[in-house]
Amino acid sequence: MVTDTFARPLRDLRISVTDRCNFRCVYCMPKEVFGRGYRFMDRRELLTFEELERLARAFVALGVEKVRITGGEPLLRRDVERLIERLAAIGGLDLTMTTNGALLPQKAQALADAGLSRVTVSLDSLDDAVFRAMNDVDFPVARVLEGIEAAAAAGLPVKVNAVVKRGVNEDEVVPLARHFRGTGQVVRFIEYMDVGATNGWRLDDVVPAAEIVAAVDAEFPLEPVEPAYRGEVARRWRYRDGAGEIGVIASVTQPFCGDCTRARISAEGRLYTCLFAVKGHDLRALVRSGASDEELAAAIGSVWRVRADRYSELRSGRTAGLPRVEMSYIGG
Ligand SMILES: C[S@@+](CC[C@H](N)C(=O)[O-])C[C@H]1O[C@@H](n2cnc3c(N)ncnc32)[C@H](O)[C@@H]1O
Ligand code: SF4
Repeated sequence: MVTDTFARPLRDLRISVTDRCNFRCVYCMPKEVFGRGYRFMDRRELLTFEELERLARAFVALGVEKVRITGGEPLLRRDVERLIERLAAIGGLDLTMTTNGALLPQKAQALADAGLSRVTVSLDSLDDAVFRAMNDVDFPVARVLEGIEAAAAAGLPVKVNAVVKRGVNEDEVVPLARHFRGTGQVVRFIEYMDVGATNGWRLDDVVPAAEIVAAVDAEFPLEPVEPAYRGEVARRWRYRDGAGEIGVIASVTQPFCGDCTRARISAEGRLYTCLFAVKGHDLRALVRSGASDEELAAAIGSVWRVRADRYSELRSGRTAGLPRVEMSYIGG
């Protein structure tokens, strides 16, 4: 096991498998920036599945227990289920994926068959007009709901991620909670974050987790649940009537850097130890240089040991203007 300068172990790995997306969510890949002319990575720049498997094994040797496949939109990566198969073969991993769900109707069964443990689907609104405006490619909400059904039918446990942006979808919080109450599918409401430099983030656009919880609690009384494990990012609340629970991810108003056990690999193989990092470490060059498994693990371990990131706890007016990588690049 390897720990960083704050004694945080390395437990979770998030792998971005593409920087491309079929959505242009206003809070993530706004069209003005990611429209025609934006340069996405070339296929040759991406880590191959074989390279990703080798890296994942090195991370597991250092203590990683949970791997999340993300992006961009991970289901746009051709044959991504082949990667799931390779990672499932490592054994003992909690293997999950975050997706916008658009391609889940056709992919869910293949992902389940390949050994995915569960899936997180992003869904910010049940109102079709609001949803279409937020994804900004006019994608209908009904298709994402079909994707969620397909995942459940394939036997995949589903969680739902909803980013809440002031004046855009805050009225959708209670309807989302109502829809998923009693289904066993937990909705996690996410505070709109200042990731990247292109979404024009302002503190005024953040709906604080406390306000989200209060809105749900007013309709369906809630009580807090103890975290299930160290590093759990969502604060959990359960319905007092036993109809399940919700989570809130309060990275702006209640930062959780102290418990952060996550490393991220971008699609081109750069290692980031914080969502708000500026600089990554080039693992692709290392893999392609013929490094042994031991050398890979040693290189990753040496990056983790000196890690001192705690951006969210230091966030202030002064940090707002600092450069940082985009969420679609580093993976959510
Ligand atoms: C970057 S996406 C990648 C995976 C996939 N495309 C999806 O949307 O689920 C991962 C997660 O990050 C969330 N996200 C993106 N931009 C965000 C922001 N500015 N603040 C908070 N969450 C954000 C998305 O809602 C999604 O749940
Ligand atoms: S949040 Fe996901 S679906 Fe939306 S633009 Fe970003 S990567 Fe695409």
